[in-house]
Amino acid sequence: MKFGRFSIILFVIGILGLMGFVSAEKTYASEKEGIETLKTPEEIQKFREEYIKNFRRTGLNTAPGDARFLRIMVASAGSKRGIEVGTATGFGAINMGMAFERNGGELISLDIDHRMVVAAEEHIKNMGLEKTVKVVEGDALKTIPELEGEFDFMFIDALKQDYMKYFQLALPKLKVGSVIVADNVILHANAMKDFLDFMEASPDYDMQIIRSSMEKGDGMAVIYKLR
Ligand SMILES: C[S@@+](CC[C@H](N)C(=O)[O-])C[C@H]1O[C@@H](n2cnc3c(N)ncnc32)[C@H](O)[C@@H]1O
Repeated sequence: MKFGRFSIILFVIGILGLMGFVSAEKTYASEKEGIETLKTPEEIQKFREEYIKNFRRTGLNTAPGDARFLRIMVASAGSKRGIEVGTATGFGAINMGMAFERNGGELISLDIDHRMVVAAEEHIKNMGLEKTVKVVEGDALKTIPELEGEFDFMFIDALKQDYMKYFQLALPKLKVGSVIVADNVILHANAMKDFLDFMEASPDYDMQIIRSSMEKGDGMAVIYKLR
């Protein structure tokens, strides 16, 4: 009798295990098929939304709501050329990339860490955004001055004490009407005091700090370059 009950439990565990295996295989197969097998814009959109939903974020990545906010900012501002300072594994980049693709624009994302660059490039490729989003490896303090052309969007999300430096280096390339978004401006306000004070005082910029990530209890500065 005891053995019979034990057999039933083993049988149920076996079935559940098999179901898990099948569903894991299913996910793997659909991921493996890749975005290039999809034809319609609706299929591509669905694939990308699923990819974002299942993205394995690290602690460095932007929270989902913040990444979506960035995407909406780029789309609604009609931004054509963006700089992201601090790619990590590319969660923000793929979200903004969708909007830049829609606008017929591009995003150049900068990161100093080779492992981050490799991981981000893989996600960008899986999302089919490699024509829109480019990742440049190196210290942004060196790579920003090397960027060619003008930009109308900037997302600052690397070393908090260097926000002012990133901004000043990009400034000659930022068009009037540019949108600048800076992350973590509540929890790290002290580290970036020079940047926030400058934006607050300057008549050339409109700034509003918003409470964004409920997940991280932090906020973003949304800045508009008036002249
Ligand atoms: C908070 S994470 C970026 C998150 C990313 N924006 C996202 O949406 O998921 C900060 C990143 O900045 C990078 N970083 C730090 N200092 C840097 C520098 N001087 N130049 C370029 N990247 C830097 C780090 O390697 C890290 O990947």
